[in-house]
Amino acid sequence: MKIGLYKQDLKQRHSKITFQKSGQYCWETPQDFFDKLNKEFNFNLDVCANEENYKCDIYFSEDQDGLKQDWEGSCWMNPPYGTKISKWVKKAFEESQKGNLVVCLLPARTDTRWWWDYCMNGEIRFIKGRLKFKGRNTKGKIVNYPATFPSAVVIFKPKKSRGFK
Ligand SMILES: C[S@@+](CC[C@H](N)C(=O)[O-])C[C@H]1O[C@@H](n2cnc3c(N)ncnc32)[C@H](O)[C@@H]1O
Repeated sequence: MKIGLYKQDLKQRHSKITFQKSGQYCWETPQDFFDKLNKEFNFNLDVCANEENYKCDIYFSEDQDGLKQDWEGSCWMNPPYGTKISKWVKKAFEESQKGNLVVCLLPARTDTRWWWDYCMNGEIRFIKGRLKFKGRNTKGKIVNYPATFPSAVVIFKPKKSRGFK
């Protein structure tokens, strides 16, 4: 199967690429971008990932469904950018209310309801220019794509302190 062949390319963490069951584009976080934030926040959980693109040793995959899990600690979230994005942002906000820190990489969709309902409660860092993502297209080909949208990092700080920033 295609995916077996592709795994030959996946030996180095920094060259990891992504593939979603759904066959959709997966906007994997550029490693250097993640590393800078990780230095600041020391993440222990990647709440949505797969075996090829996880950013923390502990992560939730599509099979486990990160939306149904309890998150804990300093959490990284770059969600699937489909129709469920509002659910992910809501969950991120709610988890922060339980005492967790959640840092999200999101499309800066300031015209959406989820932006105003949740993101506006967090610390927002708009990203200058466009991020460049790497991934596979629906035919399995590795492609680099500059995002077609502006991005922002949204930080939901814990409401009840558990000792995270
Ligand atoms: C935009 S990618 C981000 C991947 C990686 N965390 C990163 O920062 O580069 C979103 C990931 O979420 C995974 N995913 C999709 N639905 C999920 C779910 N219900 N629970 C957990 N992960 C899910 C996808 O397989 C994909 O790898």
